[in-house]
Amino acid sequence: MASANKADYVWMDGKLVPWDAATIHVSSEAVLRAASIFEGMRAYWSDKDKELYIFKNAEHLKRLRQSAKILRLSIPFRDEELTAGFIELLRKLEFKDGVHFRPVVYFDEGEPYAWKPEDISTRVFVLAFSRPHEASISKGMRSCVSTWRRNSDNASPSRLKAAANYHNSRLATVEAKLNGFGTPILLNDRGKVAESPGSCFMMVRDGTVVTPPVTSDILESITRSTLIELYRDELKVPVIEREIDRTELYIADETFFCGSGHEVQPIISVDHYPVGDGKVGPLTRKVQELYFDIAKGNVAKYRKWLTPVYGNKR
Ligand SMILES: Cc1ncc(COP(=O)(O)O)c(C=O)c1O
Repeated sequence: MASANKADYVWMDGKLVPWDAATIHVSSEAVLRAASIFEGMRAYWSDKDKELYIFKNAEHLKRLRQSAKILRLSIPFRDEELTAGFIELLRKLEFKDGVHFRPVVYFDEGEPYAWKPEDISTRVFVLAFSRPHEASISKGMRSCVSTWRRNSDNASPSRLKAAANYHNSRLATVEAKLNGFGTPILLNDRGKVAESPGSCFMMVRDGTVVTPPVTSDILESITRSTLIELYRDELKVPVIEREIDRTELYIADETFFCGSGHEVQPIISVDHYPVGDGKVGPLTRKVQELYFDIAKGNVAKYRKWLTPVYGNKR
């Protein structure tokens, strides 16, 4: 069993551990200096297939390895072992609904700032919780431009999915909430649109989807690449990756966030400027529907993106 933020089990260092026993030491580098990397992944339940599908497992593992490489951290498990761990945990928690799960690799105890991976031990855990769609994905969200800037590549690279980057995310999120908004949009150091605290950004202008390039201080989002592919190949909508100015947010026809956790999240106003007619736009809605259809196993061509958890036959 698992609820929003508690579960009976956690996968830790190769085995299932009861929730209360899943602890790490206060002196670990993860606790002292947020020295960890992670992935935020989803699995989708199909009532029709009686199956839970992990979405783009291989892509998440690849990005986890890229984060590890940048941080010079070695992951003490092979991809197949991690995948088996995800499946073991999700099966044990008997999910039959939408799941969000998070593999975390962290520096444990050792010399602070040890530069050689072998000088400091690394460990892994995986948390999994039920996570239904957020209500705002159907009605849209009011956003704003944050006064905080996104971490820059030469300081604390956003390309690296490190826990420490989410300090920046927290500052921006809390500020936006205090000001009565939903999720904010962060500009980068150059003043161009980067991303949200936990998702990427896309807009539609005159029938073309526009999204910042991966050099705009963003996480190289798996949902972003997925949607670019779906727009081009399935919906026959052109997509451009280019820098976005702040004022383009105020005159765009449609705007939305995308990410594994936040899925396809329409934005209906930015800084109190209505986006388009102030309602969820048609190209946002279309890609959202297609994305969910694929994630739930309804589109044969894209089953290659899914990893079944229970192994039920079709
Ligand atoms: C800062 C940030 N940007 C973008 C994303 C979207 O990435 P993905 O689509 O791979 O989940 C996330 C979520 O994981 C994120 O935390």
